[in-house]
Amino acid sequence: MKPVALVTGAGRGIGRGIALALARAGFDLALLDLARDAEAEATLAGVAAAGSAATFVAADIADLEAQRSAIDAAWTATGGIDCLVNNAGVSVAHRGDMLDVSPESFDRVLGINLRGTFFLTQALARRMVAAGARGHPRSIVTISSSNAEIASPERAEYCIAKAGLAMLTRLLAVRLAGEGIMAYDIRPGLIRTDMTRASQQKYDRLLAEGFTPIARWGEPDDVARAVTMLARGDLPFVTGEAIHVDGGLHIHKY
Ligand code: NAI
Repeated sequence: MKPVALVTGAGRGIGRGIALALARAGFDLALLDLARDAEAEATLAGVAAAGSAATFVAADIADLEAQRSAIDAAWTATGGIDCLVNNAGVSVAHRGDMLDVSPESFDRVLGINLRGTFFLTQALARRMVAAGARGHPRSIVTISSSNAEIASPERAEYCIAKAGLAMLTRLLAVRLAGEGIMAYDIRPGLIRTDMTRASQQKYDRLLAEGFTPIARWGEPDDVARAVTMLARGDLPFVTGEAIHVDGGLHIHKY
């Protein structure tokens, strides 16, 4: 029996990169995204090409009923899940002064990135605890952001949500280590995806000016490599840890 990973937001971008890397590493996959559209089909085809089975479940993770049904369907279709990768998330609809952030924008970003992720994790962790181990390492890997730590006041609600996810990982680590489930926080920096496309020129300029020690954009596969290492249990005495996949962006310097 192969290990199984559930990846949220697997339709495109970093989530797709993670799904493909896990498939190449020998995982079967449950892929969750808003809809089974052309992007999701491309991820499914890539997983199949890597020789792994994939099941797709559609849900908006901000909708707790919908995400619960999706988890039930994914669990039933795969026979059990060893690794959850919390990747689904959104940026702010509009960047701007934090003094102008609307309650609607705050609720949207927190509702998906933090509340949705928290309750999805809770529901799946309950199932993992009840089911017990199946002979594979078990983990919950959450994709937060360099903004869990670095303040970007033009995206205040995003930073607050990601900082909350960083604490979620530490809480999960404490609660679940005794169950043999490890928790990890991955903090990507600048990764080339649809999410960052609108700001590409700005970041191209910053990168040329020395924004990060490793002077390039990150790619989804850079994040996926870190997730794969953790999901397959390469660091068995480590939990609650954050890994910065950011070209060194987080290093304080002067
Ligand atoms: P993306 O926008 O390219 O892809 C996000 C995926 O999540 C999409 O397939 C989308 O349909 C899905 N999704 C969004 N809201 C959802 C919801 N409510 N329910 C279910 N699925 C939903 O974004 P990207 O760049 O791949 O980001 C993935 C994660 O990485 C996000 O959590 C993001 O905050 C985080 N991140 C991205 C960085 C970057 O530079 N691209 C940097 C740091 C963190």
